[in-house]
Amino acid sequence: MNPIRVMTIFGTRPEAIKMAPLVKELQGRAGVQSICCVTAQHRQMLDSVLDIFHLRPDYDLNIMEPRQTLSTITSKCLLGMEGVLEQAKPNLVLVHGDTSTTFAGALAAFYRQIMVGHVEAGLRTWDKYSPFPEEMNRKLVGDIADLHFCPTAANRDNLAREDIRDGVFITGNTVIDALKTTVVKDYHFAIELLNHLNYEHRKIVLVTCHRRENYGQPMAHIMTALRRVADAFPEVELVYPVHLSPVVREAAGKYLSGHPRIHLIDPLDVEEMHNLMARAYLVMTDSGGLQEEAPALGRPVLVLRRETERPEAVAAGTVQIAGTEEEPIYQMAARLLTDETAYRAMAHAVNPYGDGRACARIVDAIEWKFGLRPQPPAAFGA
Ligand code: UD1
Ligand code: UDP
Repeated sequence: MNPIRVMTIFGTRPEAIKMAPLVKELQGRAGVQSICCVTAQHRQMLDSVLDIFHLRPDYDLNIMEPRQTLSTITSKCLLGMEGVLEQAKPNLVLVHGDTSTTFAGALAAFYRQIMVGHVEAGLRTWDKYSPFPEEMNRKLVGDIADLHFCPTAANRDNLAREDIRDGVFITGNTVIDALKTTVVKDYHFAIELLNHLNYEHRKIVLVTCHRRENYGQPMAHIMTALRRVADAFPEVELVYPVHLSPVVREAAGKYLSGHPRIHLIDPLDVEEMHNLMARAYLVMTDSGGLQEEAPALGRPVLVLRRETERPEAVAAGTVQIAGTEEEPIYQMAARLLTDETAYRAMAHAVNPYGDGRACARIVDAIEWKFGLRPQPPAAFGA
């Protein structure tokens, strides 16, 4: 019997981090032929992940442009995928999450009537402009996909609200699989600054902020609050690996540069990032991935957004929504820096997003779908 030809398509840093362990799992199965296609919606930040996980894509669309728009990303991906799908003829295409690469990859496969599997399916805020454009991307991919790999039961329930009930599997999030391979106890950082931070006697606040809906006023408010935190608390060292988006870099430079305890650094490779997170006192972020990783590492998170599609860690008490207004962000951070009881209540490790076996479940489900297994995998958390 011919192996199942499974093509993974991804293009940005977070998709790569979360798809890398899945590509490895696909490569390790005798009944599967793994084909990896990157759009390179991100160039440097993608390559950094490919290097760390020793992945060599079979196809690379190399689409990134400085200050690219949603339309250019989507149209370049869509056109580029046409030739790739024609040549590779996969039986199944796997896309991840909610980026423009995800949407265009799924659409390109649909146009050729190729089966689509959606990894990290079913996350919703029910607000089509927040996160923007991600909420709409994942809804549209939900309609296109034939297989839906939901991290949690709540994600499955979200799909049921949209009448999507077939081909749905609860697998856990593959990011927890990735995290298990990167965090080590005696990690030595390649970036010297990170070796020299005083993790015992200073409070290291790890910051990231990049979302499109935060561009402009929200980002100005967030960054003003962060600077106030650094000013008010001499024990705080704020470490912010700044996303390569020129919009973000301009804002970070404007509001946060020139402070002795605010370290604006280049994006970290994923091993450095995960090990820094494991040692940080507090995480302040508008990132999706960090909201999943930090709870697993027992680090409290303040979310620099108005809502989240990841309510599980909020319910578990390790994540709070701080919003995008200066005063509440400052007050919530100040509380966690001064109130030991409030801090301890949040700083405990929880794993609502996975147990490190999401990729195995996803590939088991694929093998079942293609008749290579008698049973689908048991759900994560079952
Ligand atoms: C994209 C995703 C977002 C995801 C984020 C993860 C879309 C619409 N947005 O947003 O969902 O949360 O990635 O980081 O899909 N750049 C570089 N080098 C890089 C990466 C980016 O120079 O390696 C610069 C380029 O100027 C690029 C800009 O950043 O045009 C923005 O990148 P883009 O992918 O459009 O948006 P993100 O904000 O990264
Ligand atoms: N990350 C990284 N280096 C950084 C910042 C983030 O490796 O400098 C990792 C982070 O640990 C997580 C992922 O990138 O795994 C999150 O990506 P991002 O915040 O860009 O996107 P989102 O998750 O919000 O879509």
